[in-house]
Amino acid sequence: VEDWATVPGTTDLPTPCLVLDAPAFHRNLATMAAFCRDAGVSLRPHAKTHKSSWIARQQIECGATGIAVATLAEGAGLVAAGIGSILLTTPAAGAAKLSQLHGLLAGGGDLTVVAESVESVAELADLARRFSKPVDVMVDVDAGNGRTGALTPGAAADVASAIAARPELRLAGLQAYAGHVQHIGSLADRGTSQQAVRDRTSAALAAIRARGIAVPIVTGGGTGSFFNDARLGPFTEVQPGSYTVMDQEYAILETVPGEPVFEPAIYVVATVVADAGRRWVTVDAGSKALAESYTSPLPVAATGAHSYRPMGDELGAIETTAGSRPARGDRILIRPAHCDPTMNLYRSFFLIDVGERSAREIPIDLR
Ligand SMILES: Cc1ncc(COP(=O)(O)O)c(C=O)c1O
Repeated sequence: VEDWATVPGTTDLPTPCLVLDAPAFHRNLATMAAFCRDAGVSLRPHAKTHKSSWIARQQIECGATGIAVATLAEGAGLVAAGIGSILLTTPAAGAAKLSQLHGLLAGGGDLTVVAESVESVAELADLARRFSKPVDVMVDVDAGNGRTGALTPGAAADVASAIAARPELRLAGLQAYAGHVQHIGSLADRGTSQQAVRDRTSAALAAIRARGIAVPIVTGGGTGSFFNDARLGPFTEVQPGSYTVMDQEYAILETVPGEPVFEPAIYVVATVVADAGRRWVTVDAGSKALAESYTSPLPVAATGAHSYRPMGDELGAIETTAGSRPARGDRILIRPAHCDPTMNLYRSFFLIDVGERSAREIPIDLR
């Protein structure tokens, strides 16, 4: 990817912009798909990472059985793009969201939703009354991160019973997403937290099954946990997102021995706009170009570029190495610290294949 600027069509790219290294991206998709196939779990990549219907389609063509979305806007974009088997992983509440959800389902959208409470089930059943076929609902279980989901096995079973009691709804499965474990750096600590997640998820599953209710799918897991989730259960489906393009938050994590490794594929391109002889040069990428995080974006493949730090909204500093520094006008590839909120800042990315000498602009159309 360091030779990206030799590809015809890249010279005039306005910076800051996003480039996606096509071969690394396709390898990431194939690696995750092969792993899930071999492990016997379904793959439902999360589109919150990339917000691109084009990437979602590539993921389906590479073996994903469906796509997960965080927002109704992402869901609407995928429905418009003709993509089916969409799981909205965030509960829908409030008149505006329920009406948008109703519109998507009425328009034929193939959408599964989650519910964490009996009240939410009642709202969904009301909404589903107007349809000829039942709406698929998963029981959302709090895997321990305290964001959404039924808190206890008994509460999860109550939600499942409420779904099972409504002919307008069909119980599609259980979701337990453990956001709090994904970025635990130490493998030992992550392993301990994952065991707690498995215990909580298994207890909820057992409580639902004890009521004679079948749970066809158990979904959860991200890029930091899919390996153990898939191998150790009780998950039958994983929903990782970041593996698609990767970022510094994931690049600095220890991986489990034997775990597939994913390649950095997304970069922000920034131009050196000022150099007054300080220890750093100034680039046109600040917090509006690279989302801030607990770790730092990393300049790559640029001689003399050591590290990056934001200097406000519009500008950033590239600290230089002794003896060499990027020149004014140079364009520098920067690996984002966190891919999801960084991609969310752009309307498109440029898909670049250095070997094929091709560059193509792809919209980020699910924002
Ligand atoms: C519900 C849910 N599932 C899956 C993911 C994907 O996680 P990752 O990007 O760490 O692979 C996320 C990310 O926040 C999420 O919120």
